Amino acid sequence: MKRIFSLLMLSALAIFAVLVVLPGCEGPAGDPGANGTAGIDGTDGTDGVDANSFCIECHTLANKNTIKAQFTMSSHGSPGFALGYAGARGNCAKCHSHQGYLETVMTGRDTIGNPIGIPTAFECGTCHDFHSTLAEDEFPDYALRNNETVSLMYNDHATTVNLPGSGNVCGYCHQPRPQDGFPLIPDGTDSIAVTSSHWGTHYGTQSIIMEGVEGFEVAGSMAYENSGHTETLDCAACHMNKEGGEDVGGHTFNMVSPAEVENIAACTSCHSSLTSFDFNGVQTEIEGLIHHLDELLMEHKLIDDTGHAIPYTADNGLGRKFTSNEAGAVFNLLLMHYEGSHGVHNYKYTKAILVNTIEMVEAW
Ligand code: HEC
Ligand code: HEC
Ligand code: HEC
Ligand code: HEC
Ligand code: HEC
Ligand code: HEC
Repeated sequence: MKRIFSLLMLSALAIFAVLVVLPGCEGPAGDPGANGTAGIDGTDGTDGVDANSFCIECHTLANKNTIKAQFTMSSHGSPGFALGYAGARGNCAKCHSHQGYLETVMTGRDTIGNPIGIPTAFECGTCHDFHSTLAEDEFPDYALRNNETVSLMYNDHATTVNLPGSGNVCGYCHQPRPQDGFPLIPDGTDSIAVTSSHWGTHYGTQSIIMEGVEGFEVAGSMAYENSGHTETLDCAACHMNKEGGEDVGGHTFNMVSPAEVENIAACTSCHSSLTSFDFNGVQTEIEGLIHHLDELLMEHKLIDDTGHAIPYTADNGLGRKFTSNEAGAVFNLLLMHYEGSHGVHNYKYTKAILVNTIEMVEAW
């Protein structure tokens, strides 16, 4: 007890010395300077720019809440059965679950190492990670994770697409899947063993159509050219356009609202006379061509009445392997069916593929 007391006492003395005694040791004050009158106060400077005010163009709570609500409405945020069906599987997870996507972006492969135990839906951090800059003159920077040139699975990675803006983010997943017999060569001599009704392009064919590449380009009366959209528009310019209200565009990624209203605000800045996506009757025309090609391929026992390839070994099938032109015609039909815009994405390329394929099949 005594010892503690004397320790406390010692510390108190030390503090006293520091606070009271030491300042007393200051030397004498110096002489004032000559002519020591104070100068006139300067005028106040203009207010500086608020350093990071532009950050709140995006980072407000209201904006975040809108985006979250929209994302829940999208099939990215609320996927259907495809998450459970494909999200865990070796050659599907790349595009169907958050984990599968992150793994393949990291490894650069198309397949995952192990099946995923509990695949989860896409989230904000699927497409976003960090800003690559905070310098205002380099904005907008959307902190996107994987906006790199897309190496196509379709052709065993022999070819790429490089879409404008943030398009490559979408193109990584919205690209056709490879199949037996790919790549198909017009007038090629290989026979293609179509043994599954799922032979073809899979759903997400939009990236190659936007860029106007990788269709089965047979010679015909039309040249393979691109519409005015290819160079100038990224997927987000239309699918994430914010002018149509909060239940379409933005992070719903949809062109049509739940009440079936088309978001034509995404178009009218360039096409002032446009009143529906069927601009100049383009969608009606392309749907007609798809239907015509479908019927021709049904006559040739290549496609069934549900729009699937008929395996050559099936009772109603060809009984021999497909020629490359037969397989290519089926490929083109499925490509244009699953691209989903009926000519809006790239009218000229879409029409050339369909017209030239129809000419080829009509000559068989
Ligand atoms: C053009 C829109 C936009 C602007 C402007 C913007 N950001 Fe972001 N920021 C985003 C997006 C998109 C994300 C990723 C999604 C999310 O986290 O909301 C993000 C994420 C972030 C994150 C989180 C990253 C992490 O570690 O998870 C920080 C921190 C951030 N921004 C800081 C800033 C700062 C500081 C500024 C201004 C200097 C700024 N942002 C301006 C769009 C923007
Ligand atoms: C390269 C990316 C990619 C791969 C790999 C992939 N898919 Fe998909 N899949 C997509 C995209 C993108 C869509 C949606 C496209 C659309 O609607 O236009 C889709 C759609 C689907 C749908 C339809 C979803 C619905 O609700 O209608 C099913 C089912 C599906 N995929 C199953 C599979 C299976 C099974 C595999 C593996 C054998 C697979 N996918 C591999 C990209 C991929
Ligand atoms: C499928 C990919 C994808 C997912 C998932 C995604 N985003 Fe984005 N986000 C984008 C793209 C692409 C852009 C750039 C849009 C553009 O170019 O106009 C963007 C832009 C943004 C912006 C800036 C533009 C704006 O609307 O204010 C914010 C903030 C943002 N995202 C937040 C989020 C949040 C929060 C989530 C999750 C709820 C999310 N994102 C999920 C792709 C995605
Ligand atoms: C990580 C892979 C992935 C990325 C990145 C991605 N998507 Fe998707 N997208 C899908 C899958 C898978 C589906 C189908 C989901 C389902 O139905 O289960 C889909 C569905 C869609 C749909 C709805 C299709 C329909 O039939 O209703 C649209 C539109 C769409 N995506 C546009 C985009 C756009 C635009 C971007 C880029 C900003 C993008 N996607 C980025 C995988 C992706
Ligand atoms: C010029 C504007 C525009 C651009 C650019 C664009 N799209 Fe589309 N997209 C549309 C329209 C319009 C539709 C048809 C919507 C409808 O009729 O339901 C569509 C349809 C789709 C569909 C099918 C949706 C469904 O409900 O079946 C998907 C998926 C899609 N686009 C993805 C993409 C991707 C990925 C990109 C970029 C590679 C892209 N789009 C670029 C306008 C555009
Ligand atoms: C940034 C400007 C821009 C936007 C936005 C835009 N387009 Fe276009 N679009 C063009 C240009 C340029 C052409 C090529 C015109 C030509 O070749 O004469 C074109 C051509 C077309 C064509 C082919 C028409 C024809 O008769 O040749 C269709 C269809 C079309 N656009 C529909 C749409 C739709 C639907 C949207 C909105 C979902 C849209 N566009 C948004 C610039 C745009």
